[in-house]
Amino acid sequence: MAVGILLVGGFGTRLLPLTKNTPKPMLTIAGLPVTEHQLAMARNAGITTVVLATSYLSELFIPYFGDGAQWGMKLLYAVEKEPLGTGGAIANAAELLDADEPVVVFNGDVLSSHNLSLQIRQHQENNADVTLHLTSVEDARSYGCVPTDSDGRVVAFLEKMESPVTNTINAGCYVFNPQVISKISRNTVISVEREIFPELISNKARLFGFVDNSYWLDIGTPKALLKGSSDLVSGVADSSALAMADVVLHTNQKLIMSRAVVDESAVIDLGSSIGAGAVVGARAHISGSIIESGARIGADSIVRDSFVTSGSEIAEKSKILASFVTKDEILPIPA
Ligand code: GDD
Ligand code: MG
Repeated sequence: MAVGILLVGGFGTRLLPLTKNTPKPMLTIAGLPVTEHQLAMARNAGITTVVLATSYLSELFIPYFGDGAQWGMKLLYAVEKEPLGTGGAIANAAELLDADEPVVVFNGDVLSSHNLSLQIRQHQENNADVTLHLTSVEDARSYGCVPTDSDGRVVAFLEKMESPVTNTINAGCYVFNPQVISKISRNTVISVEREIFPELISNKARLFGFVDNSYWLDIGTPKALLKGSSDLVSGVADSSALAMADVVLHTNQKLIMSRAVVDESAVIDLGSSIGAGAVVGARAHISGSIIESGARIGADSIVRDSFVTSGSEIAEKSKILASFVTKDEILPIPA
C-alpha cells in the first residue's frame, strides 16, 4: 500500500487577506476545508496514512483533523519552523513514515478527480523513481511544464516559464519511490520543482508522467477558489468528503451545512455554500459565493462571487460583489 504526504505549509500569498489567519488548505470550499476534500480523495485510492507537512500557521490543522480517526485515517503532523520548500518539506515529513512503501505527495491546494490508484499501479509497473500526474491547461505559464517522450518518460521539468514549451503541466501529485526521498538533504530549503526534479532528470532517474485530464483545479487564486467551491456544489467536480460530512441540503445550486440558519425567504444559488452555523437573514440573495462557518449575512443583503470568512458579519441591505469579507475588511477581489 502507499502512504501520503500533503504539502500544506505555503503562505497562500495570492489569497491574502483570507490567508492572514487561516492557511490556504484550511479555507472552506463547498462547506469543508480544502484538505478534507483532498484526504477523501487519497482515502479512495486506499491511502490511509498521511503526514501533513505544515509550517505557516501549522497549529490550525490539529484541532480540526486530530489523529484522523473520524475519517478512518491515520494523520501525522510534521512541522517546519521555517518553510523548507517543497523538497525539504517532503524529506522532513517522510521521517514519520515507514521507508518501504511508495509515497504519494500532494500539493495541498489541488482538487483532482484523476485516477490515483492507476497512477500508483503505473508507477509500480514502470519501476519508476517518481511518477507525476500531468494534465493539460490552456495557459501553462503559472505551472511546471513537463514534456515527456513517447514512452511517457519525463524529459524536462520547467517551473513557471514565460514561453511554455508544452501545455502539459505538473498537476501536483507525485508517487515517489521512498529511496528517492531518503536521498534529499534534511533540514535544507530545497524545491522539488526547481531543484530535485531537474537534478533527477539530468541524472537519468526514472521519472514518468501519468497523463489524466479529469477534473483538475489549483485553488490558489481568488477566482479559482470560488470556482472550485461552486464546481463541487454543482457537481462539475465531485468529492466524497461531502458524503461523510454533516450536510443539511445539497442541490446543484446550493450546499447548506449543519446548524446553519437560513431564512426561508433567502435565495442561495449558483453553487453557493453556507458553512456550519452560519446565519442568513430574510430576503438575502447569495450567488456564487462561499460563506464560512459562523458568518452572519444581514437581511436584504446581496452577496455575489464573494468569500465571507468565518465569524464575519455583513450588515443588513449590504451589496457585496466580487469581494473578500473578513472580520476586519471588505476588499474587492483583484480582476
Ligand atoms: N510544508 C511546506 N513547506 N509546504 C509548502 C512549502 C514549504 O516550504 N512551499 C509550498 N508548499 C505547499 C503549498 O502549501 C501548496 O500546497 C503546495 O506546496 C504548492 O505550492 P504553491 O505555492 O501552491 O505552488 P504553485 O501553485 O505556484 O505551483 C505548484 O503547483 C502547480 C500545480 O498547481 C508547482 O508544483 C507547479 O509545478 C504545479 O504546476
Ligand atoms: Mg498552487
